[in-house]
Amino acid sequence: MILVTGGAGFIGANFVLNWFAQSQEPVINLDKLTYAGNLNNLASLQNDPRHTFVHGDINDSQKIADLLVKYQPRAIVHFAAESHVDRSIHGPADFISTNINGTFSLLEASRAYWQALSGQDKENFRFLHVSTDEVYGTLGDDNPPFSETTAYAPNSPYSASKAASDHLVRAYFHTYGLPVLTTNCSNNYGPYHFPEKLIPLIIANARAGKDLPVYGDGRQVRDWLYVTDHCAAIRRVLESGKIGETYNIGGWNEKTNMSVVHALCDLLDQLQPKTTGSYRDQIKHITDRPGHDRRYAIDARKIEKELDWKPKETFETGLRKTVEWYLANDAWTKQVQSGDYLKWVDLQYQSAQETKTQEPA
Ligand code: NAD
Ligand code: DAU
Repeated sequence: MILVTGGAGFIGANFVLNWFAQSQEPVINLDKLTYAGNLNNLASLQNDPRHTFVHGDINDSQKIADLLVKYQPRAIVHFAAESHVDRSIHGPADFISTNINGTFSLLEASRAYWQALSGQDKENFRFLHVSTDEVYGTLGDDNPPFSETTAYAPNSPYSASKAASDHLVRAYFHTYGLPVLTTNCSNNYGPYHFPEKLIPLIIANARAGKDLPVYGDGRQVRDWLYVTDHCAAIRRVLESGKIGETYNIGGWNEKTNMSVVHALCDLLDQLQPKTTGSYRDQIKHITDRPGHDRRYAIDARKIEKELDWKPKETFETGLRKTVEWYLANDAWTKQVQSGDYLKWVDLQYQSAQETKTQEPA
């Protein structure tokens, strides 16, 4: 079996659901259920004996040690993290605690467990650390995309905490020989994406008749990857990745934020038209994110060449599937827009100033 951390969050839940679509191998799913963790994401597994959910914190060393001894997993896939850049700007402490200290606790427990293994079990064990392209910082328009050898230059408390965790993972390989793998992926989107992030926020706000908040001029660029493509890449790295290596994962889909927001409005205009006008009328430019990275882009040739992985979805097919999923899953969105969510929306958007920005031609 494998142990997954953070498997009730957006990518973790998609990973677990996808895992069982391909495999009978059991999964132990350890998650603290922060505001971002949601057992409804895993509702279809409620009576599935392959899935064991454990409520717990990756900072709880004893709990992790006990789980490892009890279940003897052949691999750990580590998703658990605080993941939202804007929240890291308002309150970085949780990011340090989970992303740095939590990863450290998990590495320590994994080292003790792995060192006590022998033979094939020791040889086959893997610790796969799921990280982000944000550790590489920001690119100018003419810079080549991030490769695995790009120097780390994180700019937000979130990306700095992920960079620190990547360094710890690297050190556990070089110092102790722990068989680690690291993946650095670009922006994911798809089902179960918490509506604090750009794509699900725009869909939810558009449908509720609210403003569609675009930070600054909206010409920042992100590379977008449909979440099931990310899950497939992680499975490929887990099975065939070379120990100690890092793999960049991306969708070859560089888009400005404005073009993403426009694409979402156009899809909604088609699939759920308003009585008058277009969803584009709700777009509002607001104060920019402090330290906002201008451009991310991923050079994903290594994983393609060495592990034969390529994304299956285009941005157009993935975005349409995503919008259709949200239209069909109103109850999910309503449930996550709880009191805590409303407090966050107030904190982040209430005092944001509208800014006048010339629309790109
Ligand atoms: P998410 O915020 O949706 O989910 C995080 C999950 O981790 C939640 O279920 C939460 O309850 C759990 N968690 C948080 N703190 C915990 C702790 N101390 N102990 C145990 N569980 C804890 O995040 P996501 O978007 O699914 O991202 C998953 C991972 O992928 C993160 O490591 C993130 O850095 C990385 N990543 C995300 C993206 C993206 O676009 N979302 C892209 C690249 C990499
Ligand atoms: O690149 C990978 C990273 O992608 C992951 O490591 C992070 O966990 C994930 O949250 C994501 O980070 P971003 O900051 O790029 O994602 P977010 O959806 O928050 O924002 C995407 C872009 O949209 C970014 O340039 C900020 C902008 N934005 C975002 C929000 C929430 C807006 O213009 N308005 C908004 O309201």
